[in-house]
Amino acid sequence: MLYSTRVHQKLEALRDRDPIILGIETSCDDTSVAVLRGENEVLSMCTNSQIEIHREFGGVVPEIASRNHVKNIAPVARAAIEQAGITLEDLDAVAVTCAPGLLGALLAGLNFAKGLAFSLGIPYIGVNHICGHINANFITNPGLKPPFVCLVASGGHSQVVHVKDYDTYEILGGTCDDAAGEALDKIARQLGLPYPGGPEIEKFAEDGNEKAYNFKSQFNTNKQPNFSFSGIKTAVVNMLQQAKRTEKEIHYPDVAASFQRAVMETLAYKTVLCAHSADVKTIAIAGGVSANLKLRSLFEGLSKKYGFEFVRPELQYCADNGAMIACAAYHMLKKGITSSLDLDAKASGEMPKHL
Ligand SMILES: Nc1ncnc2c1ncn2[C@@H]1O[C@H](COP(=O)(O)OP(=O)(O)OP(=O)(O)O)[C@@H](O)[C@H]1O
Ligand SMILES: [Mg+2]
Repeated sequence: MLYSTRVHQKLEALRDRDPIILGIETSCDDTSVAVLRGENEVLSMCTNSQIEIHREFGGVVPEIASRNHVKNIAPVARAAIEQAGITLEDLDAVAVTCAPGLLGALLAGLNFAKGLAFSLGIPYIGVNHICGHINANFITNPGLKPPFVCLVASGGHSQVVHVKDYDTYEILGGTCDDAAGEALDKIARQLGLPYPGGPEIEKFAEDGNEKAYNFKSQFNTNKQPNFSFSGIKTAVVNMLQQAKRTEKEIHYPDVAASFQRAVMETLAYKTVLCAHSADVKTIAIAGGVSANLKLRSLFEGLSKKYGFEFVRPELQYCADNGAMIACAAYHMLKKGITSSLDLDAKASGEMPKHL
C-alpha cells in the first residue's frame, strides 16, 4: 500500500482516540526522544546530553554534535520505546524538530524520523523548535489553553510570543542583541565558570548579594517591548577590568547575583508589559533560562501584583527535550497538519505565524 494511503488511514483512525507520538529533538547538543500519549501523558523520555563533550571547547561544536546525534539517535529512541512499555507498531506519528538549530544536528534527527515514519506508514510532523519550547507548558499545566503570552528565553532566542491559538503565534518583542542564555553563558566565562553558564551563575549567585552592583541597561527601562543585554554585559566587563587594574578585591558571587537579577528583571518586566498590551490573562515561560528560580520568583510576584495567572514547565521540560516536540505535534495533528517527506531542515527560521 502507498505511504500516503497508509497515512490517510491512520489519520482517519485517530479521529476517535488520542495518538501516541514519538517526539525527537536533535537541534543542538541533546539527543532527546520521548513517547507522549494525548496532549500531556509522557510515557517515557530519554535524553543523551553532550554537555561534557563540548564543555572543554566552551560551547557547542556543530560537527561534533552532529556526529554524536547520528551515533546516539537509534539507541536513545529504542530506550524511549522500551521504557514506555510499547512496541514500534503502537506509534501513531513521529515528530521531529526541523528548524531552527544546527543544520547537521537537525538533519540527523530529521532523517531518522522520516525513515521510521515511512517504514511504519504513519504521519510525520516537522516541528519548529521554539513552538516546541512553548508547548512544554501544556505538558505541565493540564487545562492550559490559548490565548496566553509566553516568554521564550533560551540559548539562541529571547522572544515574547502571543500564543493566539495552538497554531497561531505573534512575536510581540525580542532581543536586539544576545539571547538571555547567550549573555549568561558569556558573563559566566568572564567569571571563570564552565559552560553552560546559566545554571552555573544561578548556583554561584546563591552566595552573593544581588543588590551589590546596580547593573542595568537604559534601554530596558523604556516601555518598548524589545530588550537588550549588551549594556548590562558591558557594565559587568568594565567593572571587572577596572577592579583588575586597581587591584580591588571582588566577591564574584555578588557579581553573578547582581548580573542575574538585572537579566531576569529585564525579561520579566518586558513580558508583563507585553501581556498587558496583548490583553491576556495568562503568562507562561519556556526555554532553558526558564528553569531559573530567580526568574520564576519574579514572575510569581509580578503576576500576583498585576492579576495574571502564571504557568511554567516542570524543570525537566525547560531545556531541549523530545516531549515538548511531541506535544507541539499533538496540537498540529489535531489541526490536521502533517509534513511531507521532502521537508528540509533549516538552520534559521522565524517561528511561523500560522503553522
Ligand atoms: N537554571 C538556569 N538559569 C539560567 N539559565 C539557564 C539555566 N539552565 C539553563 N540555562 C541556559 O539555557 C540555555 C540553554 O537553553 P536551551 O537548551 O533551551 O537553548 P538552545 O536549545 O541551545 O537554544 P534555542 O532553544 O534558542 O535554539 C543556555 O544558555 C543555559 O545557560
Ligand atoms: Mg532550545
